[in-house]
Amino acid sequence: MEEVGRIFGDVGLGQFQLSLTLPVERGDYLAVEDELHGPVLCQLDDLHRKSDLNLDRARQLVPSQEATVQETLLGTARIIGYRDGQGLVKLPTIPFRSGAHVFRAEEPLIAAVLGLTHKLDAGAYVGLLRNHRLRVELDINQLVQRHVSVLAKTGGGKSYLLGVLIEELLRHKVTCVIIDPHGEYGSLRVPAEKNGVHARFGVESQGFGRQVQEYSPDPTLNPSAKPLTFSLRHIDPRDLLVFMGLTNVKTYLAPLKQIIEAVEASRPDYTMKDLVRAADALEGAVGDQLRERLEYLEQTKLLAPQGTSLNDLVQKGEATLVNLRGVAPDVQELVVARIATTLFENRKKGRIPPLFLVIEEAHNFAPQQGTATCSRILKNIASEGRKFGLGLCVVTQRAARIDKSVLSQCNTQLILQVTNPLDLKAIAQSIEGLTAGMTEMIQSLPVGVALVTGGGYHTPLFCEVRPRATRHGGESVRIVEN
Ligand SMILES: Nc1ncnc2c1ncn2[C@@H]1O[C@H](COP(=O)(O)OP(=O)(O)OP(=O)(O)O)[C@@H](O)[C@H]1O
Ligand SMILES: [Mg+2]
Repeated sequence: MEEVGRIFGDVGLGQFQLSLTLPVERGDYLAVEDELHGPVLCQLDDLHRKSDLNLDRARQLVPSQEATVQETLLGTARIIGYRDGQGLVKLPTIPFRSGAHVFRAEEPLIAAVLGLTHKLDAGAYVGLLRNHRLRVELDINQLVQRHVSVLAKTGGGKSYLLGVLIEELLRHKVTCVIIDPHGEYGSLRVPAEKNGVHARFGVESQGFGRQVQEYSPDPTLNPSAKPLTFSLRHIDPRDLLVFMGLTNVKTYLAPLKQIIEAVEASRPDYTMKDLVRAADALEGAVGDQLRERLEYLEQTKLLAPQGTSLNDLVQKGEATLVNLRGVAPDVQELVVARIATTLFENRKKGRIPPLFLVIEEAHNFAPQQGTATCSRILKNIASEGRKFGLGLCVVTQRAARIDKSVLSQCNTQLILQVTNPLDLKAIAQSIEGLTAGMTEMIQSLPVGVALVTGGGYHTPLFCEVRPRATRHGGESVRIVEN
């Protein structure tokens, strides 16, 4: 092992300071030999240069004069641990000695302690451990059972990484439903153009055309999609009230049921227009409200006597894209509310396979301030979905603007560059084990590097995201050509 420095000063059980004789970067893995347990894995969390050039001497230097400076590179390292005889990661219970040698950790030690042994049949290969050739594979069972968040500033690479994740889920025949507000994920059908990076990561270019189907409430604007409507006959009157944005069930449920029953008696395959007409007969403020909201729903054209069947919408082992490109934000909320409710109810009854529901631009669908029509169902899925095999993945550029109870239920976080202080604060509050050094590093991550927490790993990892096997659909638009 290559020695890079020595421990100095007071030594704690969780971290220590070291003086460095060879350059090491923040985030690099180190090893220290423990007398009882052998090599222990550590990670450089912070670095600074200490010099003897004080303010007085600096002031005395004339402009072209070189300064003679004695300097030392000092660092703070966090102790990750060692694997004991039973395969558990443990921390030493006696502090290292001051003066102990610190080495650059070798890959077998890193792989063993972090759990990066190329192992999982149920592993989603998302990239390589930064600066190493070790594969980062997320445990798919954990992803679906314990929810995922993908967080980064705009242009940070969220959709690219989510594309990687969905490719992996499709390879493992996991059923997915993807709420796609910008119509970016249709490109999962198209193989990527291969380049040198693919070989480095061991990725083949591949399209998933046979496993991807697409629906949209606006198939005219999105011609690759089949039309999406919801069946009026199968919608429960309580759900219809939610759909209409009327939360006061006690006031509105009885008159709404009356209208439905009257209309159904004369015409079993009734339409929204029939309901609106029947509401005309209602009097008073309650009648006015119901009529107004039914008219609004009628105009969205989302409800039809025979809607898209659930068996068509959800296909085992396939991804369903719900393309909302060009759809008004209020109608998008209705679509998400209806789909999330249907999936949750039917998953509870075991009528559809376990699945992964992905919500892009999730701050719009489960906002921290105010409510969206679909907020409540998304919060329910976040807190209870795992019991029923309904995994949730939220993707957002504004961690501070998404409902905190949803974010804190996500046990796997994939974080790319985030610079907004409010978003950083929200991330730090929702993730255990994030050090101050890591929070700082998140602010300067290059595109394509993610901090991965959870996903089967006990310590956060920096991961170089693998290239896409399919084409990325969210390329930035060039305004000026070179
Ligand atoms: N791992 C990566 N490797 C190579 N290029 C990447 C990677 N991640 C992102 N990019 C590039 O960076 C750009 C932005 O990525 P992406 O569309 O994923 O960002 P985003 O976070 O989803 O942005 P927005 O918030 O606007 O939706 C794209 O042009 C994409 O090709
Ligand atoms: Mg995006």
